[in-house]
Amino acid sequence: MRIGVLTSGGDCPGLNAVIRSVVHRAVVDHGDEVIGFRDGWKGLLECDYLKLDLDAVSGILARGGTMLGSSRVQPAHLRDGVERARGHVEELGLDAIIPIGGEGTLKAARLLSDSGLPIVGVPKTIDNDIAVTDVTFGFDTAVGVATEALDRLKTTAESHQRVLIVEVMGRHTGWIALHSGMAAGAHAIVVPERPFDIEELAAKVGERFSAGKKFAIVVAAEGAKPRAGSMDFDEGGKDVYGHERFAGIARQLSLELEERLGKEARPVILGHVQRGGTPTAYDRVLATRFGWHAVEAVHRGEFGRMTALRGTDIVMVSLAEAVETLKTVPEDRYAEAECVL
Ligand code: F6P
Repeated sequence: MRIGVLTSGGDCPGLNAVIRSVVHRAVVDHGDEVIGFRDGWKGLLECDYLKLDLDAVSGILARGGTMLGSSRVQPAHLRDGVERARGHVEELGLDAIIPIGGEGTLKAARLLSDSGLPIVGVPKTIDNDIAVTDVTFGFDTAVGVATEALDRLKTTAESHQRVLIVEVMGRHTGWIALHSGMAAGAHAIVVPERPFDIEELAAKVGERFSAGKKFAIVVAAEGAKPRAGSMDFDEGGKDVYGHERFAGIARQLSLELEERLGKEARPVILGHVQRGGTPTAYDRVLATRFGWHAVEAVHRGEFGRMTALRGTDIVMVSLAEAVETLKTVPEDRYAEAECVL
């Protein structure tokens, strides 16, 4: 068989582990040929690819990023995108494509699959917001990075008796904020799923100071918003790909809290550091398992589907189901965290 692999959308620790696993399983165990498209769907649309053999993937397991490069370009962005992709699949004699990506990539995968292309998807995102899989690789690494940063920030916040508002990634969901905030013992967590009231938040942080504590850490998912009318808020806009360009929750919250509490407040934006660097062992293992199962699905001819983790098993789910909804933080999970803030 001839299989094409690509990584698309925001990068994520563990992508290289999937590529490596696909090549090992396909080339060594099945005698397949594997090619990798450069920079996501862009590589497929421009027929820009490289041959992937064992040498090509040697030494990449622990490396962050993606050896194939990534972009946010999607077939739907071009008038003839789907036709072009189909043409190149035919020209290259591909029996299957394995796109590795998040919400946007999986939607593109579904579009191409509906047009008749043989696709098996692999989900990835540090945001952990793909509903049909219990976990996505990259999340564990991102939570670890954010937790370590929060631990470090506590000591400087304490030295200066400050309120630090730490912005973590999470456009639509607050999983990184929830988990890192719980793990590091933050004092308040705000997430997109649960618009906050600025007076309630200020009161909560203020109580801490009244109780004699000298500092406070607020973790804010970048997509968190105040309750309508609760404070003036600049939501920002969208980039050329339709992705949110947030105006900055941490900066806005720091100004509001400083004014209400009379305490020095500072915004800290963790940003892309959460996506960079070495994946954790957990993420490497999950990514490797996804790669293995994606190749098996290709050999079974199980197209239009995606790998997913359910409990400890890897299962296949339909791409249609995978892109239906996002996995948001449920109220009871927030309550568990709130109890220890
Ligand atoms: O989708 C994953 C994600 O990490 C989001 O949490 C974040 O908003 C976005 O990527 C940032 O991506 P970019 O690389 O386009 O700035």
